[in-house]
Amino acid sequence: MRIEPTDATLGATITGIHLNRLSEAEVDTIRTAVLDHAVLIFPTQRLTDDEQIEFARQFGELSIESLPFTNEDGDRLRSADDPLMKLFQGNEGWHTDSSFQPVSAKVSMLTARKVPSSGGQTEWADMRAAYEALDAETRARIEDLTAFHSLYHSQSQVGGDDETTAQGLATLHGQPKSRSPLGPGHRRENATANAAPLRPLVKIHPETSRPALFIGRHAYGIPGLDPRASKDFLDELVEFAAQPPRIYSHDWSVGDLVMWDNRAVLHRARPWPLDEARSMHHTRVNGERTSETALNYT
Ligand SMILES: [Fe+2]
Repeated sequence: MRIEPTDATLGATITGIHLNRLSEAEVDTIRTAVLDHAVLIFPTQRLTDDEQIEFARQFGELSIESLPFTNEDGDRLRSADDPLMKLFQGNEGWHTDSSFQPVSAKVSMLTARKVPSSGGQTEWADMRAAYEALDAETRARIEDLTAFHSLYHSQSQVGGDDETTAQGLATLHGQPKSRSPLGPGHRRENATANAAPLRPLVKIHPETSRPALFIGRHAYGIPGLDPRASKDFLDELVEFAAQPPRIYSHDWSVGDLVMWDNRAVLHRARPWPLDEARSMHHTRVNGERTSETALNYT
């Protein structure tokens, strides 16, 4: 197995192994590598859904077994105003997976099944390095701050009303190849006022103890700040955090698998020409309840 770090503060490419037949020692090496590098790139593995699920189970309990992120609807391609495409448009904003659920995500993975001729990259930003780069004053300011996290809120910021968001979610999770139930954070009533999960802005990683900014598009409404000041401050933090050398951008080839640690990075999708098919299959490992449960949930 070869592990080659990228030029950024996060990410490493791993070659020389097959993810569908790993020894226990190789799995251990991958577990350590994802803590060190936060993003691991495995080129052209070409896993089936079952193999991808089997691989992911070695990192914890799954909240999503397999979920197609695709603009294909049978033989046709969805248009930009389709409620599902509105969700994908939202995913073009920096975020961490499931922060709007009572228990946030640990590890996520994507495999590329169909890749457009241009665009459609996925990018990750290192929130550990971003925290380290903050000045002392900002670090002191955010130490005790928290924010609510809601998918309905983040979708409203890209023009998605609640009904459109609910329809998009029903379509996404109801696809023929979906093996992913809707979670409590997908319900509208869990996304309002104080019912939305509340999380600290600084996350201490449960395994490495490294602090990281825990922000992104789902975060809003810092208690103690008025909504406008909260939005401006959170936008400013993301703007500062997601800058080189803290960014890795992946140009997908069919069969690539990338896995990442949601407790340490933000990620986003890049747009692509919507008259071309793009199909990615997603698997998500749930966070441990002891460390990833929101402050206002038990
Ligand atoms: Fe995501």
